[in-house]
Amino acid sequence: MDKQFLLYLLSSMSTEEKAAQLTQLNPVCFGHEFITPLTGPDFGFRVSKKSGASIGSVLNCDNATAMIAIQKRHMEEDPHAIPLLFMADIIHGFKTIFPIPLALGCSFSPELMEESCRIAAMESSVSGIHVTFSPMADLVRDPRWGRVMESCGEDPLLNARFSTAAVRGYQGQNLEPLRIASCVKHFAAYGAPEGGREYNTVDLSYGILRDTYLPAYRAALDAGAKLVMTSFNTVDRIPATANTALLRDILRTEWGFNGVVISDFNSVGELIPHGAAEDGTDAARKSLTAGVDIEMMSTHYMDTFCGTPDEADSLLDEAVLRVLTLKNELGLFENPLRDASPEQESHCHLSVENRAAARRIAGECAVLLKNNGVLPLAPIQAIGLTGPFAASSRVVGGWSAGSEHGISLYEGLTGSMSADLIHLAECGEPVSILNGNPDISFPDETFIARFKDCDTVIAAVGEDQADTGEGASKTNLRLSPNQELLLLKLHEAGKKVVAVVFSGRPLELAPALPYCDAVLQAWFLGTESGGALSDLLLGKINPSGRLTVSFPYTAGQIPVYYNHFQTGRPEKDPTKKERYVSRYLDCPNDPLFCFGYGLSYSEFEYSNFCLCESGTLTASVTVRNLSDREGTETVQLYIRDVAARCVRPVRELKDFRRVRLTGGESATIVFSIGPEMLSYYKTDSAVLEDGEYEIMIGRNALDTLSGKIYITHNTSVKEQV
Ligand code: BGC
Repeated sequence: MDKQFLLYLLSSMSTEEKAAQLTQLNPVCFGHEFITPLTGPDFGFRVSKKSGASIGSVLNCDNATAMIAIQKRHMEEDPHAIPLLFMADIIHGFKTIFPIPLALGCSFSPELMEESCRIAAMESSVSGIHVTFSPMADLVRDPRWGRVMESCGEDPLLNARFSTAAVRGYQGQNLEPLRIASCVKHFAAYGAPEGGREYNTVDLSYGILRDTYLPAYRAALDAGAKLVMTSFNTVDRIPATANTALLRDILRTEWGFNGVVISDFNSVGELIPHGAAEDGTDAARKSLTAGVDIEMMSTHYMDTFCGTPDEADSLLDEAVLRVLTLKNELGLFENPLRDASPEQESHCHLSVENRAAARRIAGECAVLLKNNGVLPLAPIQAIGLTGPFAASSRVVGGWSAGSEHGISLYEGLTGSMSADLIHLAECGEPVSILNGNPDISFPDETFIARFKDCDTVIAAVGEDQADTGEGASKTNLRLSPNQELLLLKLHEAGKKVVAVVFSGRPLELAPALPYCDAVLQAWFLGTESGGALSDLLLGKINPSGRLTVSFPYTAGQIPVYYNHFQTGRPEKDPTKKERYVSRYLDCPNDPLFCFGYGLSYSEFEYSNFCLCESGTLTASVTVRNLSDREGTETVQLYIRDVAARCVRPVRELKDFRRVRLTGGESATIVFSIGPEMLSYYKTDSAVLEDGEYEIMIGRNALDTLSGKIYITHNTSVKEQV
């Protein structure tokens, strides 16, 4: 349809119909049966037949049969025959579940994110979904926050690249069939709640907001994301949902975004308890004025914008036109059912190809944190297998409603080695605060004796997937007491202990680390978790994941992240234990495992760091695979602005390259260093200062080769290498 048609439609709508068009409700509100669990308060409201007929969009309807029924009835009842938009949370897959976003980030392969999102788009579009509330571009620095699992981690560049890839995967070139529109969320800075407590205050300086938190949202929009979701939190004391500076000045004016802005679940109504609106009318007016087009799961727009026209009318028109435009871009006026098809669902959901992709991708996301030579395991020896995740199917990760079960580790291992060799001894369900699952049973001598024939025991430990995600903040990040004891007792019994850790956040592994000969951070790897983990443990896949979040020694160290600022009294030499420097008396400053860290079964050597100025500035290193096993190394480029008008981070990731090397092979990796890598936000714009920069290349944030360079007006002079 052309724009004239949309304008005509708009001109024929009443104010009430416009407000309803800007309202999104769950199918339950229309009297349909409960489909997917709600992620927020249920006010139990029901819309009348009349106002319900003009509602604009539906939240979380998850199957083609229900979607087709709802859409067909709506098309008969809506006086203007404007099709409904169906939006849902497709976070890391729809039916075929992929690794949680935090794990996907650890692949350092945005291409894998794109592939997983393409498959998720295909599986969800045949179920009648038009829009996904993904990617979550929120940068995270606090593992106490439950939604760390939905982010790609603590780095702005990495988050930006993964957000871009997700949008491409969902939307394709231009929302062609089997693609869906992408809604980037939660704008902005939802990932920085004080104390890691869900929905808590966010208070960031302008420079940190700009340099650190905003780039990933911006990248998603530059990649063409059609929608933006506001966040629950405040930004500079004003809730994001009523924040004109954020939604109009930055998003619309500065970034030129002309797509749809949707509130988060009831975040319009939450302006009242925030103390930012007096009542529902005030909340509706403030949200619309700030730039929120669609109100999710509350009806303040419908209750407020009715009857006589007022000054809000032109804002309502702009918002409705944006929603109609999105419906038109999705082709809904021509085909309100779009790709929805129960028949296609049965072909496409969990297809052999989709599951094969899920397994391949999962194999790239686990991170090997420790290995004293016990891994890879030989599949010809008796191996003990225990821990609450040994045979559990609760390994896919949160935000996977309807597909919560995946291949367990036990199933994965028995797919690759004789079941007789695996001595499985279960000890309870995954421990969960939310679900009330108690600690595993105490590992007494009789229990440990069950592994008498095994030199090596795999202990599959961690936190339940229910204790991660929205509304799952925690202050204690340790393994439960009996899980730590299990590792200790196995160690004391002389076993080689391989810990496989399932979690949606960095856990506090320091207390248990001495008892483990190897630690594989499994995160939650989705439907094919067990197969992928078995491939990694048995060496069919060489681990290549690298951490995108720092693992703290202790929760008291949080926030601990690699790109922190320099202080006036930095600790130069931890062995000196100086008093008046910035340090803890009882804990190192650095994390237990830093950003970018991860082991492989191969060993890589870095040499020949070189800065070269010939037109463009480049930095290079030679990486050699010292082992005889093929492996993948992620070579990371970091830069530090040594002295500037604003204090700058000690290092920032500026590029990375994954390189696959056969045994003994070496490669020279060259990075070009452009001005965009050296600039930062001062006031309202990016600045590039003359001065000294330290260029670092290495295997992780703390293990690099480096040199310094002086840059003047875009010409650089090498100072020392
Ligand atoms: C979450 C969003 C989600 C929405 C819809 C909210 O509670 O914060 O991320 O997209 O619910 O389910």
